[in-house]
Amino acid sequence: MLEELKKLDGITDELLEKLTEKGYTTVESLCWLMPEELAAKIAIETELAVEIIEKANSLMSFQPLSAAALLEKEKEKKPITTGSKELDDLLGGGIFTGEITEIAGEFATGKTQLCFQLAINVQLPPEKGGLKGGVYYIDTEGTFSSTRIAQIAKENGLDPQQFLKNIAVTRTYNSDHLMFLVLNAEQLIKKRNIKLFVIDSIASHFRAEYIGDKKLVPRQQAVMRLAETLKHLVENYELAIVVTNQVIATIDESLFDKSPHPALGFAWAHRPHQRILLRKGRGQARIARMYDSSRLPDRECIFFVTEKGITDKGT
Ligand SMILES: Nc1ncnc2c1ncn2[C@@H]1O[C@H](COP(=O)(O)OP(=O)(O)OP(=O)(O)O)[C@@H](O)[C@H]1O
Ligand SMILES: [Mg+2]
Repeated sequence: MLEELKKLDGITDELLEKLTEKGYTTVESLCWLMPEELAAKIAIETELAVEIIEKANSLMSFQPLSAAALLEKEKEKKPITTGSKELDDLLGGGIFTGEITEIAGEFATGKTQLCFQLAINVQLPPEKGGLKGGVYYIDTEGTFSSTRIAQIAKENGLDPQQFLKNIAVTRTYNSDHLMFLVLNAEQLIKKRNIKLFVIDSIASHFRAEYIGDKKLVPRQQAVMRLAETLKHLVENYELAIVVTNQVIATIDESLFDKSPHPALGFAWAHRPHQRILLRKGRGQARIARMYDSSRLPDRECIFFVTEKGITDKGT
C-alpha cells in the first residue's frame, strides 16, 4: 500500500494525497514510471519525482521465488470456460486468472463474440465453468452490445438482467483515456469483485494515433507502459485479462511467412501469457490457433459462433 511510503523522509500527506488522486495507490504503481511523467502528472519537480520512484523501488521486494513456490502460484490460477470444449482444451482448460490472454484475428472472426461469451461465463458458478465474478469491459471500438449479450444469456437459459448488471462497461476515446482507466482500475476491481477484465481492442487507439515511422518509438513506449500496468493488475488480483488485437499483413520479419500477425509489434508481443489467432472457416465455423505459449503446444481447433454464442456445434 501507498501508506508504506509515509515511512520515508520527504513524503508528506499532501504528496500522498496528490498521488492517490491520480490513481497511484500502490508502491508497485510508482516503480516503473518515468520521472518526467510523474512530475507532470502531480505537478512536482522532476528531482522529487526521481526520489519518489527510487523510494518506491526500495520498498519493493525483488527476491526470487523458488520454482516450488511458483508451482503453487500456478495452481492458484483458475479457468473460465469459453463455451466451447474444443477451445477450452486448446487453452489448457479455458481462460485463466493470473494470465493475460490475447485474442487476435481479422474482422468478424469472433473476437468480440468470445469476449461477450466470457463476460457471461465468468459470472457462472465454478461447477458451470465460471468464477462467480464481475466483469470490467473496456470498449475502444464502440462495438459493445448489451443486446447481443442479453441474447446469448437468453439462448443459454439465463436471466439477461442478472448478467448484464455485473458487467461494468466504459467506452474509451483515445490511448490516454485507456491508460487512465487501466491505471485507475484497482478500486473497481476490488469493489465489484472483478474476475474478468476485457480490453476490446488493445490496438485501435495506438494505431490511429501514432502514425508514421517517427511515432514508432513513442508508440512502443506507450504500449509498454500499458502492458506493464496490465501485468501489475494480473499479478496482484485474482482475475483474467483478455485483450483482443487486430492483425496486420506481414511486411517485415520473415518474407516467407505472409500470414497475418497481431498488431503492436515487439513492445506488446511477449506480454500475453497466451495468444490465440482466429480465422474464418466455413459458415459459423472459426479456427483458433494457439501459438507462442510458454506452457501449451502450438495447435489448432475449430469452434462456432452462433446465436447461442461460442459453441462446439454450428446451427
Ligand atoms: N446474433 C448473432 N447470431 C449469430 N452470429 C452472430 C451474431 N452476432 C454476431 N455473430 C457472428 O459474429 C461475427 C462477428 O464477430 P465479432 O464481432 O466477434 O468480430 P471481431 O472478430 O470482433 O471483428 P472486428 O475486428 O471487426 O471487431 C459475425 O460475422 C457473425 O458471424
Ligand atoms: Mg470486435
